[in-house]
Amino acid sequence: MVLDSANIVLIGFMGSGKSSVAKNLGKRYSQSQNPPQKLSQKTLRKDTTQRFTRFVLDSDEMISKNLGMSISQYFKRRGEEAFRLREAEFIAWVCSSVKNAIISTGGGMPIFNDVKQMGFVVYLEIGFDEILSRLDSIQRTKRPLFRDLKKAKEIFLYRKDIYKNTADLVIDASKPLESITQEILNHHL
Ligand code: S3P
Repeated sequence: MVLDSANIVLIGFMGSGKSSVAKNLGKRYSQSQNPPQKLSQKTLRKDTTQRFTRFVLDSDEMISKNLGMSISQYFKRRGEEAFRLREAEFIAWVCSSVKNAIISTGGGMPIFNDVKQMGFVVYLEIGFDEILSRLDSIQRTKRPLFRDLKKAKEIFLYRKDIYKNTADLVIDASKPLESITQEILNHHL
């Protein structure tokens, strides 16, 4: 079990559903009438507001807003290395200023930076074929590292153990959204 104020950090490959899970978790935390199953009414009465207020942050979205351009444009103009530095700055900012958040990270963040310092790390584990079936060609083109399928698969195979070794909790992300959300809530009261 984890302290209330620790951030929940979602990691996983592109297309594993981090953003959707983050949004859904955020909804559940804001619905005090629909609390995580393990919470008793007694605990709820003690600490309703703090426990159920968690805001959602998306690292790519924030970085992109700060840069004033899409991640894809930034990759093209400055390259991947520069992008990884922007991710490191995002992590430093979270560590110094953010509590009680649900953080959806870019797929490469745990490979190039230490995400554990941001909070409780949840890996959304999913097979490459399932990812392919989820991302249409438009969604793939938006991701600079997913334009070449063969390369994307190589990156996936290289990364999957790193994700697993970084995580405090591994979740089968091929399950329905609600059951993934509930599983995280069950571990993270
Ligand atoms: C990347 C994943 C992307 C984005 C960037 C690099 C990666 O985020 O950060 O294109 O290295 O896997 P999503 O995982 O949200 O697609």
